[in-house]
Parts: sequence; C-alpha cells; structure tokens
Amino acid sequence: MKLAVVSVAVLLVILIACPVSTRAEGYGDDGDDDDTKSWFPLDNLLSLRYYDKICPSFEKIVATKVSEWTKTDPSLGPALLRLVFHDCGVTGCDASVLLDHEGSERKSPASKTLRGFELIDAIKSEMEKSCPGKVSCADILVAASRDATYRLGGPYWPNAYGRRDSKTSYARDVEKVPSGRRDVTGLLETFQSYGLNVLDLVVLSGAHTIGKAYCETIQSRLYNFNGSNGTDPSIEPKYADYLRRKCRWASETVELDNKTPTVFDNQYYINLRKGEGVLSTDQELVKDPRTAPLVAAFALQGSLMFKQQFAVSMAKLVNVGVITGEDRDGEIRKVCSKSNSGIY
Ligand code: HEM
Repeated sequence: MKLAVVSVAVLLVILIACPVSTRAEGYGDDGDDDDTKSWFPLDNLLSLRYYDKICPSFEKIVATKVSEWTKTDPSLGPALLRLVFHDCGVTGCDASVLLDHEGSERKSPASKTLRGFELIDAIKSEMEKSCPGKVSCADILVAASRDATYRLGGPYWPNAYGRRDSKTSYARDVEKVPSGRRDVTGLLETFQSYGLNVLDLVVLSGAHTIGKAYCETIQSRLYNFNGSNGTDPSIEPKYADYLRRKCRWASETVELDNKTPTVFDNQYYINLRKGEGVLSTDQELVKDPRTAPLVAAFALQGSLMFKQQFAVSMAKLVNVGVITGEDRDGEIRKVCSKSNSGIY
C-alpha cells in the first residue's frame, strides 16, 4: 500500500512535468514561407507543422478514413494500435512493417496476426490524390493509430511528422519486438533499447485494455505451464476456467481485458491485480517490484491519469528510430506495401 502511495506521488510529479494536450487545435499561420525546409532549418527533426503547407488535408483524410473503416469493423482500432508498436519496435517508425515481400517483417511468423494493412493502403491512395508524393506511410500509420485510439475513448496527442519510409524490411528483425513470453527484465531491456523507461513499459502495456489475443498465444499458459501439464497458478482460478472454456481451439480469440474490452480505460491494471491478465508478460508486471507499484497506481487512480501518461509515452514511442531529412536514407513510398525501386 505504502508503495502504491509513493508511486502515485512519483507519477503525479511526472505528469505535472509533462503536460499533455487534449484535442489538437490549428497551429495558426506562420507567414509567407512556401516550403517545409524554410520553416525547419534543422530538417532532420520531426515537426508538428510538417504538413501545414504541403498537405493541409493530411489529418482530415486520415481521421475520415479511420472513422469510416472502424465503424464497419471496430476490431481495426486495436489492430492499428498494435501495428504501430510493431513498426516502431522493429528498426524504428519507418513503415518497414508494411512492406510485403518474401523475407519482409510482415512475412515473419511472428507477424501473422497483425492486421490493419488494407486501411493504411486505403488512406495512402486517398492521400496520393490530394498530395501526391508528399506523405510517408510511416506518418500515416502514426496518425491513424492515434485516431483509432482516440475513437475508442483513449487520449489524443499531437504528433510531429516528417518521417520517411524505409527501403528495406527483414523478417529476422522482428525478434526485436517482444513476444508474449519475455520476463520483465527482457521487456525492460527491449524498451530501454527504444529509449523508453519502466514507466513507458507499464503504461504502454495498458494498450491491452482493448483488443484480443489468439488462444494459440496463451495455450502453454493454460495447458502446459512450464512443462507441468497444468495451468499457470498466477491466473485467478475462476478466470482460468473461463479461459480454458474459451480457448479450446488455438484459432479462437480471447479479449485482453475481459471487463471492458472495447473501452480504452484503466481496467487492464485492475484485472492484473486480480490475476486476470491474459498474457504472461502482462501478469508478470504485478509480480516484479520494479513494475508492481506503477500497476497499482494506474489501477487505483482511475482512467484519467493512465490516459494522460499513455499519450506522453505514445508520443515517445512514435519518435523511435525515425528517418528524416532529404539527406538520409529513406523515401516517400508511392504504395505502402512496396518500395519505390520495386526491388522490395
Ligand atoms: C510490452 C510488451 C508487449 C508484448 C509482449 C505484447 C504482446 C502482445 C500479444 C502476444 C498480443 C496478442 C497477439 C495475438 O495473439 O495475435 C498483443 C495484442 C495487442 N497488443 Fe501488445 N504487446 C506488448 C506491448 C504492446 C504495446 C506497446 C502496444 C501499443 C502501444 C500493444 C498493443 C496491442 C494491442 C492493441 C493488441 C490487440 C490487437 C488486436 O486486437 O488486433 N502491445 N500484444
């Protein structure tokens, strides 16, 4: 309990130091500049105003398409949020996850349940009509996942843009993004390699307040935990019964937050403290002394603090390993699933 109070205090200090915008507003007019470079002498940086002049309808096109598609298929919201993590977590936020060729990240077995690619393609083709050759697939993915999160009741955060797309993508790199079987030390090492910290790990894991997992992902946890032929004892017994009933087949799915699966709230943390985490990587967060106090704080403080910190940590995640500036490797792809050279 003492630990929880201390962690709440720590979080409050962090939140006060990093205020989050609510809904983005117009950025105003900045005068007569007619190209992006003159606004940004340091053109290797992302900018909140990157598309103001070169594609003013950028945010609107993304928001409209995300709204249309997620109304028809609400499961696309969580899918997009996962997709951006799998992009940024492997060689940075460079749309490498979207390239679709033999040996690409997307073709790796670990990517087989990723979804949302068609929506990104649809946004890109609309974008090419209004602003041909100007908007990267990496920026589209970052904007679309933010809009999808917001539509599910999550926070809104202003994104800085100007990413370029990678020209290559390798399946072997996919191991850089954590699977459901790492321990907390492994997760922390991965997040540290992105330049993220323990708070980012706990708060971004809260993305599992929405969406689903395939039963295949948790079968060993349910039926053969550590080679025991039994169930992971850290799962609350009644919940374990429920999961075993739901997960008779590997191809079934189970909600990551069994109480409010379609709402972006702090219920995930409340579940974890009751032994109702679906992934072992989630449940581990309440056992480890480095992460448990933060889980407690988000469980006890209601959704607002979680959402505010989620926005702060997402804004960090979407800046990981970006390619920017004309002088650096990368391109603005014409089609998100193919590099412009056609080689990949
Ligand atoms: C901390 C390390 C993480 C691990 C080990 C992890 C692992 C997983 C796994 C195993 C699944 C289920 C996939 C399946 O069965 O098909 C999943 C789903 C999901 N993950 Fe994560 N994840 C992590 C972090 C994140 C982050 C940082 C985000 C976003 C910010 C995220 C967003 C999601 C979402 C939204 C889903 C549901 C997808 C859907 O319903 O289509 N995850 N994650």
